Amino acid sequence: MTNKDQIVIFDTTLRDGEQSPGCSMNLEEKLKMARLLDEMGVDIIEAGFPVASPGDFEAVHEIAKTVKNSVVCGLSRAKKADIEASGDAIKPAKRKRIHTFISTSPLHMKHKLQMPPEEVLDAVSESVTFARKFTDDVEWSAEDASRTEDDFLCRAVEIAINSGATTVNIPDTVGYTIPEEYGAKIAMLFERVPNIDKAIISTHCHNDLGLAVANSLAGVANGARQIECTINGIGERAGNAALEEIVMALRTRHDMMPYTTNIETEKITKISRTLSSITGFAVQPNKAIVGANAFAHESGIHQDGMLKHANTYEIMTPESVGLTESKLVMGKHSGRHAFKTKLAELGFDLGDNALQEAFARFKNLADKKKEIFEDDLIALVEDEVVRENESIKFISLQIQAGTTGPQTADMVLEIDGEEKAKKVEGNGPVDAIFKAIREIVPHPDAHLQLYQVHAITGGTDAQAEVTVRLEENGRTVNGQGADADTLVASARAYINALNKLMMKREGFNPQTASEAVAP
Ligand code: KIV
Ligand code: ZN
Repeated sequence: MTNKDQIVIFDTTLRDGEQSPGCSMNLEEKLKMARLLDEMGVDIIEAGFPVASPGDFEAVHEIAKTVKNSVVCGLSRAKKADIEASGDAIKPAKRKRIHTFISTSPLHMKHKLQMPPEEVLDAVSESVTFARKFTDDVEWSAEDASRTEDDFLCRAVEIAINSGATTVNIPDTVGYTIPEEYGAKIAMLFERVPNIDKAIISTHCHNDLGLAVANSLAGVANGARQIECTINGIGERAGNAALEEIVMALRTRHDMMPYTTNIETEKITKISRTLSSITGFAVQPNKAIVGANAFAHESGIHQDGMLKHANTYEIMTPESVGLTESKLVMGKHSGRHAFKTKLAELGFDLGDNALQEAFARFKNLADKKKEIFEDDLIALVEDEVVRENESIKFISLQIQAGTTGPQTADMVLEIDGEEKAKKVEGNGPVDAIFKAIREIVPHPDAHLQLYQVHAITGGTDAQAEVTVRLEENGRTVNGQGADADTLVASARAYINALNKLMMKREGFNPQTASEAVAP
């Protein structure tokens, strides 16, 4: 990167973000996010922590094969096995980076690492030197840098650069620092580390005090040229600096912060929504840039001002973040050919069977819903794609609900090609649906952690998009379902989560599980 005002955007949604509770994603979901990050112009995608598990390794490896432009990065502790795993996982990438880290604060060295400071310095030089055997692009991080003594941090940074680090990251691991202090820390490194001009200095700020974005920008004002961030600000505890906030702050206040990024900001809304639907992590309505109310003007005075001149209350346009009205696309008279053409325009290429299924569902939806928007089609097709390889399939559901009980769910599922039915009473229709699924495919150790309903478009006939999170022995999965009927969407979401849970369990056979309890 030669332009001194260019900011490198390093996205860690798939690593720091994914490791936070409830945000875990499966391989397809990670690949989908990686493609969107690549298309949006993210410079570096931290794709995971390859040594953590075979699943993490595979995800980084597949992302490395898939991504076209972004650098693909794997995280490693200062250990040979970690660095080797990262080196192997990123091998297929066109451009690859190894990120290795070790704690440098007195607290972490004493209590977490239980290593004397001099040994930590040796580990810095050994780990960076070893990582350089796999790639010339090596990033080194001083974990808990914001609570590290200046003298020691300067020595560690100098050693890392001398050993071959091309990027040096200064994390505020615990979200403790404030902008003046963090900016001064970066300025201090530029003043005191003799070889600092040989590396790019990076920020990595956590949001425990709500200061992650402000701290990252203070770092940039003092010489940092890489920012580590995540979509929707997901990440450990209170999360990381939000990519969308960083990028839009730089774009909107270019007068005060004359820096540029490679991000196509018009892709922000789509990627934010995709992540929310994959993880079930809803964005708070008043969240900057991507919250539902971020561009809504409710008060009469504001609306009046907006009608006279948009700039009265709008500092950036909704279009600049890709927030446009969902387009009306098709009606119930649209034919299969028009449907296929529209899907191609939206970037979907379905096989014959999936297309047939999707078209049948579209016709069904068009009977129920007056207007079909692009977002409806996307939800419907994505729902079809999600289900393609499921071994437990949703077939049908009849519900009895209302004030006079009992509320019952009459459910038919197909398990590896064989239909199984159950009629079950519940405490309300959703409870009855979930109980019916549990009776057909018992999974006693799994617990429901989240049940979330979201309307895809406006109006009472809008399709519902449901997320269900299940946890079993420490493993969490999110399932999605979309349908004009909220209860059908709920059943689909639960079944999708269950399929994912089954795939995470080794050797699980849904057929034998259902036979074991068949009456
Ligand atoms: O917060 C942190 O310090 C990290 C490092 C691994 C970079 O995530
Ligand atoms: Zn972090």
